[in-house]
Amino acid sequence: MRRKIVAGNWKMNGSKDLVEKLVGYIRAEVESLDNGVEVVIIPPAIYVGDVVVQAAGALAVGVQNVSRLQSGAYTGEISSGMVADFGCKYALVGHSERRQLFGESDADVAEKVARLLADDLNAIVCVGETLDEREAGNAEAVVARQVEDGLARVAGDQWGRVVVAYEPVWAIGTGKTATAEDAQSMHASIRKVLAGIGAPSEDVSVLYGGSVKADNAAALFAEPDIDGGLIGGASLVAEDFVSICRAVP
Ligand code: G3P
Repeated sequence: MRRKIVAGNWKMNGSKDLVEKLVGYIRAEVESLDNGVEVVIIPPAIYVGDVVVQAAGALAVGVQNVSRLQSGAYTGEISSGMVADFGCKYALVGHSERRQLFGESDADVAEKVARLLADDLNAIVCVGETLDEREAGNAEAVVARQVEDGLARVAGDQWGRVVVAYEPVWAIGTGKTATAEDAQSMHASIRKVLAGIGAPSEDVSVLYGGSVKADNAAALFAEPDIDGGLIGGASLVAEDFVSICRAVP
């Protein structure tokens, strides 16, 4: 049975004030939802402790990145053990901004996923093609490679803690969303790739991300292989984010 998840990736936005106002509001609204959605707040790491307090167990909390290393003299890194220690349940891995701006490779993704799973955390592994790759007809092949290589080290009993987020790079922060049909088609293809690498593909949640808004979420989430969303800009606007959480069928 796959989980329905809406996760808000704040990216490098926020403040202590925003944590207090936004998370408190979302928590109160989400408590009355009966659609079984798990709502995850993913703030910049420095605010995680404050978000965990505000979330009060009604919302899950995650980080946007984690070290591939375990501990030691690695200035600036944050380990998966520390993430777990602070009460987080999730971590994003391989977001396209990490891949494009910070040179993160599929091999890095695989190492980070392995670290998170070893510490009993849930990994939300982001995949997605650029506009050039889509226009060249390579979207499915690119995403398949990211799924296969990024999840290469997942062991049989760990799949229950793996979530895939399909985020076409050309749809992130641009206002251009994939159509529900195109997103569904890629999600179905991701599920086939998962089956090919031995995952229980019908049980793995696959989220869509890329300009999900209050007015397009319901159509996306109605598709059979879309199990929720990874939300950027709209996760910083309380009413919009709650509407997106409500749009999960
Ligand atoms: O991780 C979420 C993301 O990259 C999508 O951002 O602003 O297009 O919803 P946005």
